[in-house]
Amino acid sequence: MRHVIEPTDLTLEEQSELIAEASLIMRNPSRYAEVCRGKILASLFYEPSTRTRLSFESAMISLGGSVIGFASGDVSSAAKGESIADTIRVAGCYADICAIRHPKEGSALVASQFSTIPVINAGDGGHEHPTQTYTDILTINAVKGRLENMTVGLCGDLKFGRTVHSLIKTLSLHPGNKFLLASPEELAIPDYIKWILRDRGCEFEETRDLEGAIGKMDILYMTRVQKERFFNEEDYVRLKDSYILDMAKLEGAKPDLAILHPLPRVNEISVEVDKDPRAVYFYQAMCGKFVRMALIKKLLDL
Ligand code: CP
Repeated sequence: MRHVIEPTDLTLEEQSELIAEASLIMRNPSRYAEVCRGKILASLFYEPSTRTRLSFESAMISLGGSVIGFASGDVSSAAKGESIADTIRVAGCYADICAIRHPKEGSALVASQFSTIPVINAGDGGHEHPTQTYTDILTINAVKGRLENMTVGLCGDLKFGRTVHSLIKTLSLHPGNKFLLASPEELAIPDYIKWILRDRGCEFEETRDLEGAIGKMDILYMTRVQKERFFNEEDYVRLKDSYILDMAKLEGAKPDLAILHPLPRVNEISVEVDKDPRAVYFYQAMCGKFVRMALIKKLLDL
């Protein structure tokens, strides 16, 4: 039995196979409509979600399976004090595979240690979001045709943004990628991510100046400031609009830049950018369903 708690729980070769399978599914989804007939996904979401929950559920239904679960911890027995360990043991009595999102870092790992079914981390606090990374690499591969030799800009809340941590850990395993990290000082990338980059011999630069760096980027990965991870409202309000990508800022960007965002967006990308062909974040959200179909199929060995 395999769990996916971090993106590297699949080897690079497996990630490549996953992308290939997701691309096949995207081209011909009806061929996969019976693959999970009789199988059940437990969708255990203790924290709000639109894309991850709906795409997991849509993925399982599109594979012919069924879905049980909850969209908030308040409506589960977590509200009465039940532990994740007990909940996951019980979920294993009713389902074949589980996707879990939780505000606490490490919660998906704990779940996997007590689970009798494959556990997929659908986001644990500010830590990791592996299926977002698989979505991101499927998107990048589709629009750029490669995952290596790119200058990858990441901008916004690089401290609490779990999607950023997972994506850097993965793209830094591909040769020739450089990273430009644009954030306010208080929301800079954590030291442990910098250690990983140094350890792997990856070039990276931290900057406060998105406009000054944008011209070098092949990918720009925008992120929102993660309000829910702040200890006080005042700091959030001060930092929330640190970066707002608009058409003026894109003037110096490459014509084949790809602009990604894991979404939800708050203010950090002006809606005028949506119609620019370089904006691929809604296509990226669509890719999420197909990569999750491929992942469910793989973990259920179907
Ligand atoms: N990208 C992402 O995780 O979005 P949701 O929080 O809406 O699931």
